[in-house]
Amino acid sequence: MKKSMKQSGLQVAGIVSLALATLGAPSPATAEDSLVLYCAVNEPWCRAASSAFERETGIKVAMTRKSSGEIYAQVKAESANPRGDIWWGGTGDPHVTAAQEGLTVEYKSPMLGELQDWAVRQWEQAKGRTVGIYSGALGFGYNAKILKSRNLPEPKCWADLLDPKFRDEVQVADPNSSGTAYTLLATIVQIMGEDKGFEYLKSLHKNVNQYTKSGAAPAKAVSLGETAIGIVFMHDMITMAIENPDVKTVAPCEGTGYEIGSMSIIKGARNPESAKKFYDWALTPAAQVLGAETKQFQVPSNKNTPIPPEAPKLSEIKLINYDFEKYGSVDERRRLLAKWDREVKSLPK
Ligand code: G6P
Repeated sequence: MKKSMKQSGLQVAGIVSLALATLGAPSPATAEDSLVLYCAVNEPWCRAASSAFERETGIKVAMTRKSSGEIYAQVKAESANPRGDIWWGGTGDPHVTAAQEGLTVEYKSPMLGELQDWAVRQWEQAKGRTVGIYSGALGFGYNAKILKSRNLPEPKCWADLLDPKFRDEVQVADPNSSGTAYTLLATIVQIMGEDKGFEYLKSLHKNVNQYTKSGAAPAKAVSLGETAIGIVFMHDMITMAIENPDVKTVAPCEGTGYEIGSMSIIKGARNPESAKKFYDWALTPAAQVLGAETKQFQVPSNKNTPIPPEAPKLSEIKLINYDFEKYGSVDERRRLLAKWDREVKSLPK
């Protein structure tokens, strides 16, 4: 009796110490069970994607929404001790910059074969370190009711936005934080050439009421009537226009630039397996339809994801031959942003 008690006591002690050892040791399961997601699409889509991925895989997602330039800066600042696993969404340019700097890693997803050519080209150009997840054209929009009430004309072209009548009527983001605004900077330089392009941006500055942090914020401000005109991706203006008929979306007459929204796995990610699982999942039609379901109308990169009928038709828009390699390069990004800070943002109004 005594012996058996002693035995079972030992057994219990053994089990307890085993359990303690398991608890104390870093559990191999945690690496597979969590994911730190840096998300640069609009908040509703970030939230829907995080919950759907969690539901489908059981992997716990810690998500932060920030603008493209902010995530790039964060990934760079954290590179000695990375905290993020995957950077999903936002304009492709800073993803290309990060790839060039070795802040992100090469990955060949089994989903690659299902993607549109432009999404694969993005992957090839970045030597496998980033991939296209959606695309969308830059443009602007206005609140027709506000323009009418102030007796202002409806702008159709980039040139129209310089009209002195629009003083303090235009809102756009800051290209340091926002990929949208960086796309504007690079687009204007590509359409007009650098000298004329900077002259344009300096004149535009006189009409800008606020440089916001996030790229899509001016679309919301147009809908709320806080600004008459907002420069954003056309699909962001459409999100507002479907709820508010006063909001109009414009594809500028001179032609316009576009983005290849991208995704990259962060170098030194603590949860690399979860990051790959998210990467593959985010390229499936089932994941990509969450965009349209949360009223985000980009063109998805998987050929089998239905293109939302609300998405601006890229084939009908005069798109420039945007040079993603050049405007995504480390030196060009640094040079253009420094020049914009110096010559445009600091100008008195
Ligand atoms: C919005 C757009 C995306 C774009 C992103 C860039 O979310 O819908 O297509 O990639 O803005 O955000 P940012 O704040 O960096 O301009």
